Amino acid sequence: MNMMTELKTEAQFVDQFGRGKRKLRISVTDRCNFKCVYCMPEHPEWMKKHDLLSFEELYQFCDFMVRRGIESIRITGGEPLMRQGVVHFIAQLQDLKKLGLKRISMTTNAHYLKQYTQALKQAGLDDLNISLDSLDADQFKQLTQKELAPILDGIRAAQAAGLPIKINSVLMNGINDNQILPLARWSVQEKVHLRFIEFMPLDGDRKWSTEHVVSEQQILATLATEFAVTSQAIDLAQLNSDPARQYFIDGHPIGMISTITHSFCGTCDRVRLTAQGEFYNCLFAPKGLNLKAEIKALVPSEPLSEVSLSSALSNYIWNKEHGFHAIEQRLKNQSMNQNSRKISMHMLGG
Ligand code: GTP
Ligand code: 5AD
Ligand code: SF4
Repeated sequence: MNMMTELKTEAQFVDQFGRGKRKLRISVTDRCNFKCVYCMPEHPEWMKKHDLLSFEELYQFCDFMVRRGIESIRITGGEPLMRQGVVHFIAQLQDLKKLGLKRISMTTNAHYLKQYTQALKQAGLDDLNISLDSLDADQFKQLTQKELAPILDGIRAAQAAGLPIKINSVLMNGINDNQILPLARWSVQEKVHLRFIEFMPLDGDRKWSTEHVVSEQQILATLATEFAVTSQAIDLAQLNSDPARQYFIDGHPIGMISTITHSFCGTCDRVRLTAQGEFYNCLFAPKGLNLKAEIKALVPSEPLSEVSLSSALSNYIWNKEHGFHAIEQRLKNQSMNQNSRKISMHMLGG
């Protein structure tokens, strides 16, 4: 390896397929007040509070990552607004914008959003993604065990405050696939950006099966019964490493996140950290890398304190597999199924 390559790999984390890492997702808690069937196990074993990294430690880690090319940080959970101090953390992260950080975002179930909107805006949050899988109050309650009204209030509050939002809707056959048209109509009417998501095998109780997946094709066919559906001339999603493929219904944008039928792994630029300091190079990685000790050892402005974190991370990120289908195939070849994975969405934050 020559000097130039050495400098380049130190500057940015890159995997064996040449995909540089620009987006970091941090799950600040595994706890959630919802019980979405596609995510939360029936009997979750919550992480112990004393096992979580503190916000100070998370900040040091973000500082380290931004100096190595991370441009966007997304705060996730569980439900991130359930961790006390998260708004202050977002405000603190603003300091990293002078080092190259461009966006600080959050993904939330929006149950507490109305009361937090102003604080989040003041803390400088750049955008919010909100989960909403049904507009039918009874169905919503069955899906989440919570009420729909506070979510709609939270969405309106965020819009009124001028916080950019996107709505995430996970569809499951036989459960909420009847929501395609109601959600699409609502998104046009409310002028919000909606993205339909194919159900992925990361639910806590491992009940996922292909029969439950509502495919992008199925969604588009349903939309076409009522709207003029067009696609983007150039696949900007590919160019921007965006998980959503962009379509338009009667000219209004709508996205499809289709990991199962159109995986977007080829351009993946993201990495993840759990609240306990486990690092994942892929959403579907069978194993994470425990970085707790290395993160706790970071001392501001002491480059030597970064050496062991840096070398553990470069190696683990370099070995990132190609993506969802490659991992599924490998597990199949080894006669292991996805149930052998320990991770689930509520710990990893999507
Ligand atoms: P932006 O692109 O910044 O809007 O964020 P996002 O869409 O990646 O974030 P969000 O938390 O809203 O996630 C939306 C859906 O995309 C969720 O179902 C995530 O699990 C899924 N998702 C996010 N990142 C990845 C990824 O790297 N791989 C796969 N397969 N799915 C992802
Ligand atoms: N498949 C697809 N998306 C999921 N999410 C949670 N679990 C799953 C799953 N099994 C989505 C949520 C949330 C985002 C972080 O991940 O809807 O919007
Ligand atoms: Fe990236 Fe893995 Fe998601 Fe593919 S499945 S987009 S590689 S995190």
